[in-house]
Amino acid sequence: MKKSIFIVANWKMNLNFSSASNLIDRIKATIKNSIADIKVIICPQFLLIPQIKDSLSNDGILSLGAQDCHHKLSGAFTGDTSIELLKDLKCQYVIVGHSERRIYHKESSETIKNKIQLINQLSMVPILCIGESLVERREKNYLDILSEQLLKSIPNEVDKLLIAYEPIWSIGSGLVPSLEQIKEVTDHIRLFVNNNKKIGTIYVLYGGSVNLNNFFDIFKVHGVSGGLIGGASMKSGDFTKILKKLI
Ligand code: PGA
Repeated sequence: MKKSIFIVANWKMNLNFSSASNLIDRIKATIKNSIADIKVIICPQFLLIPQIKDSLSNDGILSLGAQDCHHKLSGAFTGDTSIELLKDLKCQYVIVGHSERRIYHKESSETIKNKIQLINQLSMVPILCIGESLVERREKNYLDILSEQLLKSIPNEVDKLLIAYEPIWSIGSGLVPSLEQIKEVTDHIRLFVNNNKKIGTIYVLYGGSVNLNNFFDIFKVHGVSGGLIGGASMKSGDFTKILKKLI
């Protein structure tokens, strides 16, 4: 598979200090000495970041990412996390706009846009998630819904942006769009963003029930530069087998 591949491991609110450390050790052993053009971005819960940063070099295949950040640098925002601390902790990437944050935390595309602006200002890389619901897919207006998310969530200019197409109905469900459906949407994302925004470098990923059996075919789709993986990124056997096939 000769193209740049990004594997974003979204651990969500899972793993503890010892299971995270065991998983990182297995990942490091798997990719040791590889010179493949692949980036594996580990996105743990905030409290695991200080421990994990000490075991990552951040200059090779493995990098650290955060699952979210606040859209302001600091202030009276009880319970939120500042991007400056994430940067100090060597996070290079930040996931924004995941459907779990849009739904459970009522995050608007306007807020997401402010986050991307800030992440870009701090020379970090935003990983923007967009996706349609099952109803929107069935009603066949998903391309309009996705275009609106792109238009409202992305600032006019961004240096580098990863966009993950994550159909909400596919996350954690075992349901995966066909390869043709993935290609239709990822082509649409690239075209729409190129026509409406000024982005230095853009990569489009797929996320939603990616696993050991389907990842290779999905990542082979023209224009898909890897994936955002939830459940399978925490099963060390499956995740290391995925990595072995890519390196
Ligand atoms: P999943 O999660 O791989 O468990 O479907 C993906 C995600 O939510 O990013």
